[in-house]
Amino acid sequence: MSKTASFKPIRKAVFPVAGLGTRFLPATKSIPKEMLPVVDKPILQYAVEEAKKAGIEHFVFVTGRGKTVIEDHFDIAYELEQTLEQRQKTDVLDRLRSDLPEAGQISYTRQQSPLGLGHAVWCARDIIGNEPFALLLPDMLMKSDTPCLKNMMDLYAEKGGNIISVEECAPEDASKYGIVQFETESDGAMKITDMVEKPAPGTAPSNFFINGRYILQPEVFDLLGEKKRGAGNEIQITDAMLRLIKDQEFHAVTFTGQTFDCGSRLGFLQANLAYSLDDSDLRPQIQKMLENLNDENQPQKRHAAAS
Ligand code: UTP
Repeated sequence: MSKTASFKPIRKAVFPVAGLGTRFLPATKSIPKEMLPVVDKPILQYAVEEAKKAGIEHFVFVTGRGKTVIEDHFDIAYELEQTLEQRQKTDVLDRLRSDLPEAGQISYTRQQSPLGLGHAVWCARDIIGNEPFALLLPDMLMKSDTPCLKNMMDLYAEKGGNIISVEECAPEDASKYGIVQFETESDGAMKITDMVEKPAPGTAPSNFFINGRYILQPEVFDLLGEKKRGAGNEIQITDAMLRLIKDQEFHAVTFTGQTFDCGSRLGFLQANLAYSLDDSDLRPQIQKMLENLNDENQPQKRHAAAS
């Protein structure tokens, strides 16, 4: 494996969407978790838009059984478009059309069994080829003015190598995440020296956790191809990165926006609230609804309502 950083452009992004979404059953029995809506857009579309804004030209989806609705979502829906045209719903139609990547910009491959995130990424190896790529976990919804991946691309342009996005957490929460150890370079950049998956309480090397956005060199595929099982008996991307870091540089970008873990019920609900409060039509009604809810939860009001 080469020690030199590659500055080849990042053209392609991988979106692993083959997971079972067990934390969201029964909703995810027949609907992919990644297609659940945050306000009026599927979770996955937020990640695709983030990648598009960061300059990604090709979108690679690693899907699985029961996920074909994802392919339909990123395709032209002729009958729907025709009906919208007849009804002169041009705003909705324009939005639908502008959301679509161009023909030939999307590839799909299948992970036949959900053997873990690392295995899902490995399934994209032939489509990515010998070039660095972005990896976005779509259920981590990143809300910010500048897309998280854009900041990572900017750092990549300076440093090359591998880049991961990190975020600060409360020290007591560090044991829930993959945590990085780092040193600060003379230009202020964070150079990662180690990573620990879910460190025991009080042992975390920092409070910065890996939050679901990566720029990786293609050598990671060789390591993933060894199919070594890690935590949960799954093939883990963190294990491959831990080996890659011995030969290649990893830098981190600190994400300062809001991250919503839409793979968890609470994160999903929080994302829906945060995005609906951003919508000028919904905001006043949501605020009123929240005030009312709060009022109804006051003990004297509950008593009054019951009597
Ligand atoms: P998660 O671990 O959050 O997804 O993976 P999951 O396994 O579907 O969720 P739970 O824990 O059962 O509720 C993060 C991302 O990686 C994908 C998932 O689809 C999700 O977008 N993934 C995970 C795969 O594509 N394949 C896998 O084998 C595992």
